Amino acid sequence: MNSDEVAVIKKTWEIPVATPTDSGTAILVQFLKRYPSNMEKFPFRDVPVDDLVTNARFRAHAGRIIRVFDDSIRALGQDGELEKLEEIWTKVAMNHIPRQITKESYNQLRGIILEVLTAACNLNESQAEAWSKLVDHVYKIIFKFIDNDGNAV
Ligand code: HEM
Repeated sequence: MNSDEVAVIKKTWEIPVATPTDSGTAILVQFLKRYPSNMEKFPFRDVPVDDLVTNARFRAHAGRIIRVFDDSIRALGQDGELEKLEEIWTKVAMNHIPRQITKESYNQLRGIILEVLTAACNLNESQAEAWSKLVDHVYKIIFKFIDNDGNAV
């Protein structure tokens, strides 16, 4: 990412991060509605999707996803940004290994994240491209550690 792209990401991120839990909830609701088999992985698997928005555990996970992105976006443009991203996303990969989250699930979530951000921030094509680059970068870090089925390699 060049400095213009970093600036685009930091500026547009101000919108969803202003209401982090709601933004994360919007992403996760879409994710689980469109790809319901992912529900099996969650402790709230028996809660109907439409009730999830008020489920505390669900909202906590939603907020955590946003937090991970917020930490990453803060690191952009700073000294040691690549090392910091490596540290943050290695931790994400490691935390999820016991849950066997497949690459397909991660990719499903990637599509929803970009879709929700595009709508929330009204991203144009080049702004969406900057975001896509960031997500590609951090996903490469996760995917170094797992096989297609989400097991450690
Ligand atoms: C952008 C990618 C993702 C990020 C940043 C992310 C972030 C996190 C974080 C920070 C936690 C809490 C730490 C922990 O308990 O280990 C967590 C938990 C969890 N994640 Fe993710 N996650 C991502 C993708 C996914 C995907 C694709 C799934 C697929 C189903 C998933 C399923 C879970 C589950 C089941 C938990 C435990 C929830 C709970 O116990 O309440 N995550 N995630």
